[in-house]
Amino acid sequence: MRFANKVAIVTGAGSGIGRASAQQFAREGARVVVADVNPESGAMTAAAIKERGGDAVFIPVDTSSYESVASLVQQTLGTYGQLDIMFNNAGIVNAQYAVHEMPVEEYHRTVAVNQHGVFYGIKAAANAMKDRGGVIINTASIYGYIADRKQFPYHASKGAVVMMTKSAALDLARYNIRVVGIAPGLIETGIVSEWRKNPALWSKIERAQMRGKAGTPEQVAQMVAFLASDEASFLNGHVFCVDDGAASFKR
Ligand SMILES: NC(=O)c1ccc[n+]([C@@H]2O[C@H](COP(=O)([O-])OP(=O)(O)OC[C@H]3O[C@@H](n4cnc5c(N)ncnc54)[C@H](O)[C@@H]3O)[C@@H](O)[C@H]2O)c1
Repeated sequence: MRFANKVAIVTGAGSGIGRASAQQFAREGARVVVADVNPESGAMTAAAIKERGGDAVFIPVDTSSYESVASLVQQTLGTYGQLDIMFNNAGIVNAQYAVHEMPVEEYHRTVAVNQHGVFYGIKAAANAMKDRGGVIINTASIYGYIADRKQFPYHASKGAVVMMTKSAALDLARYNIRVVGIAPGLIETGIVSEWRKNPALWSKIERAQMRGKAGTPEQVAQMVAFLASDEASFLNGHVFCVDDGAASFKR
């Protein structure tokens, strides 16, 4: 039970990587705050954890609002009395346009969730953790390192998460708060469901992984749990690719 007596917040926990990570934390003894903008799916994750004997509560959040994220952290302290692990994971993809045709609103919508939301999560969690230490994990993407077409806002936001992770780790080291990130490759979740509907496109994208297959949310959750655990106590200020080598070779 790596997370006995620990309290974890997982944003975007209604689905995909967030849901699998919330379930993993709970299986290993954490009390888990399932946070999502979607109340139905968020409540489903919390219910699934409780059905298996875990301890979870759903708290709605819109990570693009600082007030909402700050309130999430305050409600967590009110419910569980402490915060040990903050997984800033909620994210969206942009509608696909080349950069010169990208609607300005679409850029801001994407960056508001993927980039600003991570800042808000780091800031609010750090203030709750600074007396006793903790771990903050941010979800970037291999698209924080390598470019694809028509994804400018997503790339901008995920590249920012990579640097925000390093910068926050440095500022928060004195409080014994580690800040690390994950950069997933293609993972079969709701966020890529549109691509999944097109078999030719899907198999092309799958071939970007070294073994030609998308990963599962559970495979990513294993890495998230490791990073949050004491086994990773000397890991700090880095973002780790969970991508079957996708960011390592030219295609
Ligand atoms: N699936 C992939 O291939 C892949 C690859 C690299 C990175 N990622 C990143 O992984 C993270 C999780 O995505 P996923 O793949 O599990 O997708 P997903 O769509 O299954 O899950 C994302 C969750 O975030 C929630 N969400 C969206 N906007 C929100 C907001 N403003 N506030 C709170 N919650 C919000 C959604 O309701 C959803 O439950 C994202 O940051 C995504 O960019 C995914």
